[in-house]
Amino acid sequence: MVFASPSSNASTGQLAPVLARYGAQPHALVQILRELQALQGWLSPETLSQVAPALGLTLAQVQGVVGFYRFLHTQPVGDYRVLFSDNVSDRMLGSEALLADLCQRLGVTPGRLSGDGRVSVDRTSCTGLCDQGPALLINHHQVVTHLDAERVAQMAELMRARVPLALWPAQWFEVHDNIRRAELLLGEPAAPGVALAAALARGADAMLAEMKRSNLRGRGGAGFGTGLKWELCRQSPGAEHVVVCNADEGEPGTFKDRVLLRRHAHDLFEGMSIAAFVLGARQGFVYLRGEYRFLLEHVQSVLQQRRDAGLLGPSILGQAGFDFDIAIHVGAGAYVCGEESALIESLEGKRGTPRIRPPFPVEHGYLGHPTVVNNVETFCAASQIARHGGAWWAEIGTTQSSGTKIHSVSGDCERPGVYEYPFGTRIAHMLEDCGARDTQAVLVGGPSGLCLSPYEFGRRIAFEDVSTAGAFMVFDRSRDMFEVARSFAHFFAHESCGFCTPCRVGTALVAKRMDKLASGQGSRYDIDVLFELDRLMHTTTHCGLGASACNLLHDTILKFRPAYEQRLRSLYFEPGFDLDAELSTARRMTGRDDVGAHLENWT
Ligand SMILES: Cc1cc2nc3c(=O)[nH]c(=O)nc-3n(C[C@H](O)[C@H](O)[C@H](O)COP(=O)(O)O)c2cc1C
Ligand code: SF4
Repeated sequence: MVFASPSSNASTGQLAPVLARYGAQPHALVQILRELQALQGWLSPETLSQVAPALGLTLAQVQGVVGFYRFLHTQPVGDYRVLFSDNVSDRMLGSEALLADLCQRLGVTPGRLSGDGRVSVDRTSCTGLCDQGPALLINHHQVVTHLDAERVAQMAELMRARVPLALWPAQWFEVHDNIRRAELLLGEPAAPGVALAAALARGADAMLAEMKRSNLRGRGGAGFGTGLKWELCRQSPGAEHVVVCNADEGEPGTFKDRVLLRRHAHDLFEGMSIAAFVLGARQGFVYLRGEYRFLLEHVQSVLQQRRDAGLLGPSILGQAGFDFDIAIHVGAGAYVCGEESALIESLEGKRGTPRIRPPFPVEHGYLGHPTVVNNVETFCAASQIARHGGAWWAEIGTTQSSGTKIHSVSGDCERPGVYEYPFGTRIAHMLEDCGARDTQAVLVGGPSGLCLSPYEFGRRIAFEDVSTAGAFMVFDRSRDMFEVARSFAHFFAHESCGFCTPCRVGTALVAKRMDKLASGQGSRYDIDVLFELDRLMHTTTHCGLGASACNLLHDTILKFRPAYEQRLRSLYFEPGFDLDAELSTARRMTGRDDVGAHLENWT
């Protein structure tokens, strides 16, 4: 069997059913474009011209949206669109050499379509598979894990022979959960409906009181009190309230939500339904990151099971007036869409530009309705609280950080995977559990989190000490922390949405300065400039992406200074280029190459 080349035009036959599925709603634009692209391979000008009027939008609006998302293409990308996960952990496992090998075997240049129009190979930001990398995405809906030279050679052969993905070895697409330590959230899932029934038995007011009693704080990073968030939303006037689960999980090194979505989807939906019961919401969304498209069928089937069991839809568990359902929105490759207001924009079918706040989503969220946005893990915790009560949850962990936290452990350790600990656990304890040796640094919370050096390994995971959204990346002494910071500087420059100048320009300047240092042209002056950019971006950027983009840089300059200083050419100023070499044309034109024509001889 070989591929039939997909047509590049939106035949009415393809467009009409997709539009019908979404009621031709303009806020479903991203989903409609994703589906058309899956059918046609790319989004041709004709397709965009047909979609725009069908949704009551201008062509410019549609083009603006397409241009924002990395996984939407206005040029052909081939029958095989290969995207290597480009996290530091993938690179540590050899992803760059494997990418070069695949390109060489296929005769393609990274980022370009092959001459025969069949294959393109490129990099993409972390795909959330750091515990089983190096990994890649193929055609935006399959992932290949545990890549090695043999697998790459076989893949090249299969692509050359134009074998469809459905006939590739099934074990290549296996994704393991790698649950290494389970407590409350990662243990055996409860029977569907138990937590929801407990919430209904309590009543909405009492359930909200339990949430507040639990002191649960959001697991997406900011740590806002979940009970308070639900209360603020509930108090906001509006004909409708909306519940949104943030499953964007884009922070490099984080993959615990992937495991919850696969293993504990019922707990997640239970938590969302409990929130809906408290708020009186009818509509829920899961914003599933585009890189997790391979989970879509599983998550949809769990939703259907719940509908069949009367746990979603009208009169849930026989409760008159409790009518709630959940739709899945698949993202299209943009880290900033994890920021809750950008996520809501994206849910509304627009570019994922963070909103000006206030008003906050709890007052003015999805289509202007009061909206609660919570992380996957937060909703799973809410379902535990419904079953066991707020006081039970509050007793676990520390005073300011109740309950347990799930960590995505990767990098230089023997047992990468997900680990659940009560808050208050020391970094050293976690390093021992995962089999880390000779550790030089741990990046907690990803590149926008904290980078700790060995003298800090006695610190504890807690909002009052080391706060985290879940990434725990380990680096042993063989790693160059400057290169780690440089790689993430490029990540932020790449992911900046470009809306505000301090971040758009600042992240690019930081990446450029780091490249200058890497090329051996740097000086202490460049380090001063990096600190200045960090200060500026912290205080002036529009959203958390820009504000935290220099966190790792800041920590590595302070704690791993020799990694920077060994690259400095001089102590004060050095230009970012070789001045003497730049003058070679002038020397040639003037016919001079004497000693005095070279800068180093000037005094
Ligand atoms: C750039 C950026 C990316 C973010 N990515 C995520 C994400 O992938 N998942 C998430 O839950 N929260 C993410 N957040 C935090 C959300 O804005 C929001 O605080 C969170 O979803 C609220 O849920 P919680 O209260 O349960 O933590 C991100 C924030 C920023 C600034
Ligand atoms: S800080 Fe960066 S990501 Fe956030 S709005 Fe500004 S440009 Fe966009």
